[in-house]
Amino acid sequence: MGEPLGNLVRTHTCGALREADVGDNVVLLGWVHRVRDLGALIFFDVRDRYGLTQVVARDDDGLLATAKRLRPEFVVAVVGPAEMRSDETVNPKLDTGTVEVAAREIRILNESARPPFQIADESPVSEDLRLRYRYLDLRRPRMQQNIRLRHQTAAAVRQFFDQHDFLEIETPVLTKSTPEGARDYLVPSRVHPGEFFALPQSPQIFKQLLMIAGMDRYFQIVRCFRDEDLRADRQPEFTQVDVEIAFANPDVVFGLIESLMQELLTAVGLGSVDVPFQRLPYAEALARYGSDKPDLRVAMAIEDVSDAFAESSFQVFRQIVADGGVIRALPVPGRGGASRKELDDFVARAGDLGAAGLVWARYAADGAVQSSVLKVAGEVAVRRALELVGVGKDDLILVAAGEGAAASKLLGQLRLEIAQKAGWLDPARFAFTWVVDFPLLEWDDADQRFAAMHHPFTSPIDADIEKLSSDPGAVRAKAYDLVLNGSEIGGGSIRIHDQAMQQRMFDLLDIGRDEARARFGFFLDALEYGTPPHGGIALGLDRIVALLAGEPSIRDVIAFPKTAAAVDLMAGAPAGVDPRQLKELRLRSDG
Ligand code: AMO
Repeated sequence: MGEPLGNLVRTHTCGALREADVGDNVVLLGWVHRVRDLGALIFFDVRDRYGLTQVVARDDDGLLATAKRLRPEFVVAVVGPAEMRSDETVNPKLDTGTVEVAAREIRILNESARPPFQIADESPVSEDLRLRYRYLDLRRPRMQQNIRLRHQTAAAVRQFFDQHDFLEIETPVLTKSTPEGARDYLVPSRVHPGEFFALPQSPQIFKQLLMIAGMDRYFQIVRCFRDEDLRADRQPEFTQVDVEIAFANPDVVFGLIESLMQELLTAVGLGSVDVPFQRLPYAEALARYGSDKPDLRVAMAIEDVSDAFAESSFQVFRQIVADGGVIRALPVPGRGGASRKELDDFVARAGDLGAAGLVWARYAADGAVQSSVLKVAGEVAVRRALELVGVGKDDLILVAAGEGAAASKLLGQLRLEIAQKAGWLDPARFAFTWVVDFPLLEWDDADQRFAAMHHPFTSPIDADIEKLSSDPGAVRAKAYDLVLNGSEIGGGSIRIHDQAMQQRMFDLLDIGRDEARARFGFFLDALEYGTPPHGGIALGLDRIVALLAGEPSIRDVIAFPKTAAAVDLMAGAPAGVDPRQLKELRLRSDG
C-alpha cells in the first residue's frame, strides 16, 4: 500500500525548475524514471508529462532506506530544496539540467509492477506489446510528444474556424448509412428489433442539411467509422476536420484551407508554407507522377517520350505506340554514373512490380549516349528520348512502355522507391498540392456499372454536364483532394444542390428511385426547400498529425488505436456479448 498524498500540493512540474528557483523548497509529484544507486548517495529522476527532474537522496537525511525501495514507475512525492548541481553532473540536454532537488522527504504514493518494457529508454518494442499496454506506451516521450502535437493541432483548427465565423455543430453518431465507399458499422436497435443504425462514414449528408438549414459555415472535429481493409494510414474509426460552406466555389475552399495549413504549421512550430498550393489536374498527376497523390518533395516528373521511339528501329516500342500505347521516361537525377549492378537492380525491381521490361539511357562521358536498347533503337532515338526528358549528363532515365496509366504507375512507384532510398523525402519538408478535375464516375467492372468517384453528392463541372448522357465516363467533377507529401490528407467537392440533378446522378449510378427514396429520401426532400449552392471538404486529422510528427503510421498519433487487424488489444474488443444481450436485440450469432 502506498503512503497517502495527504495535503501535499505540487509546487513545480518536473520540467519547471531552473537556476532561479535554487533555494526554494519544492514539492514534485511524478513517476520514478531511473534510479542510480551510488551507495552513500542515490540519484533518481522524477518524471511527469512536463519533463524530468533529478533528485538526490543522501544518507545524512535518513532517506536512503526509502530511496533504496524505489523502482521505475513508482509514483512518488519528493519534498526538499532545489539546489545547483555540481559541475560534473550538469545535464545540458535537460531543461532542468542545472538543478536538482535535495530530498528531505520521499513518499511512495504507489508502487508499480515491473513494466513489460522500459519507459525510460526508447528502444524498440513490438507494436502488439505497446498496444496491449498502451497506457505505459503513452508514458514514453515520443508518444507524449505526439499526443501533445495532436492536441495543439486540434486547438489551432478550432481557433482558426472560430475566427473565420464557422460554427462547430455536432452531427449524430447513431444514424443512417452515408455512402463513402466503405462498409458500415451497424448498431442494432433494441426498441425496433431487426432495425439498425449505421455509424457515420462521414457527416456528409448532415453537413449538407446544415447548409440547407442556413448555418452558412460549419465545421466539426468528428469521429468517422469505416469498415474497410486497414493500412498504416487507415483506422476503422478516425477523425475528420469536416467543413462545409454555403455559396462556395472551389477557390473559396482552397483559399480557406491554405490559410488553415499555414496557421497550423506556425502554431505547432514547424515553420511556414507558401500559398497558393499548386493545382494539379488528376489526369496530369497520373501521367507525370503515376499517382493521384503525388509526393512533390522531389521534382522528378515522368515525361512522354513516345515521339522518340515512334519511328525508331526498335520494333517493340514502335508497335506499342502504333497500338495506342505510350513510352514514358522517369529522370533520375545524379544517377548517370550508376553501375551495371544498379541498373540491373532497377530492371529487376520493375520485373517484381509486374513490368514486362524497363529500359535505361544516359549520356556517356564523351557526349555519346548509352542505353540498354542502344543497338536496337539506335543513337538518334535514345538521344531524342534524353532530350525530351531534359536531363543532363549526370542523370539517368528509366523508360517504360505500355498502356499509359500502367507505364506511369510503374515509373511512379520506382520514383518513390528511388527517392526514399536516396533520402530525398525529407520528413521536415511539407509539399502540398491540390489534385483537381477528378472524373465524376468510375466504372466498376465487377458490378458492371458506374460508381461515384468521391460520393454521389458531388457536382459535375458545368462544361461537362452535356456529356452526362452521351459519355458519362468523361465527365469531370468539381472535386478536389489535398495531398501532402504523397498522402491524401483531405477530399471534398462542390455539391449538387438541385434535386433534379441529384436524381439524375442516382440514375447514372443505377440507384433506383425506390432505393434512392429508401436511403436518401429525407435528403432528396430537403433539396426541394431552397438549397443554396454549397461545397466543402474533410481533412484527415490523424494523417495530418502523423505527417507533422514524422510518424509513418497514424496509429502513433491516436491514443488508443486499433491494430492493423482492427482489434483493440488492450480492451480486447471486439468481443462476444452476453447471450441475454443478443436475445434482447433479437439477434443470433453464427460466429
Ligand atoms: P473522404 O472519404 O475523402 O471524404 O475522407 C476525407 C479524408 O479523411 C481521411 N480518411 C481516413 N483517415 C484515416 N482512416 C481512414 N479509414 C480514413 N478514410 C478517410 C483522409 C481523407 O482524405 N465526406 C467526404 C468529404 C467531403 O466531400 O467534404 C469524405 O469523407 O485523409
